[in-house]
Amino acid sequence: MKEDFYYQQARSQGYRSRASFKLLQINNKFKVFRKGQTIIDLGASPGGWSQVASHLVGGNGKVIAIDKSYISPFKEKQVEILNKDILNRNLPTIILETYGKTDGLISDCSPNISGDFSRDHSIQISLARRALTLTQSLLKVNGFFICKLFQGTELPEFMKEMKEHFKTTKLYKPAASRKKSAEIYAVGLKYNASKDSSTETEK
Ligand SMILES: C[S@@+](CC[C@H](N)C(=O)[O-])C[C@H]1O[C@@H](n2cnc3c(N)ncnc32)[C@H](O)[C@@H]1O
Repeated sequence: MKEDFYYQQARSQGYRSRASFKLLQINNKFKVFRKGQTIIDLGASPGGWSQVASHLVGGNGKVIAIDKSYISPFKEKQVEILNKDILNRNLPTIILETYGKTDGLISDCSPNISGDFSRDHSIQISLARRALTLTQSLLKVNGFFICKLFQGTELPEFMKEMKEHFKTTKLYKPAASRKKSAEIYAVGLKYNASKDSSTETEK
């Protein structure tokens, strides 16, 4: 991949990935992060989003960086790493018992790209759907959700599902997201917990 502007910026500013700028731009638009928040970052490796989130929530906040792939330790003390698959059924219980409910859930999960777009789209939306399900166990009332999506036939149905749980939902493509890429981000504001049962039953 050509070393583009955001790749160079990430290197010079000490970010682990060019994806960092996507989260910064999403937050510039929607202004969802606050000092002291607790944030869950799904699909966090190598850790660019967790770095950005940790700076935005500050030293009194917390970021839980979750990925099935290895994430190297952060110098930012407020980031904790959970090396887990987001499909793990025990994940909500583990998070709730250790950290309680969270202010924001962000997901940049994406599958390994096979080149078969409709398959990749379908797997990616199923990861997004898992992230949306996790908001129902983990988000505080009025919490926020940011989620990567691959645009395709299943996107409208996903947005319909999201609307059932958030007062406001938006789609946004940050400038750092490559124009040719199918990727776009869904943003959910003001989580409405009354429509959901508060915990997921684990077996
Ligand atoms: C585009 S990368 C995330 C980049 C990250 N936001 C950053 O700023 O550095 C997508 C990540 O999703 C993760 N992922 C995909 N499926 C997953 C799953 N089932 N459980 C946990 N992580 C998953 C991959 O391992 C990969 O690290």
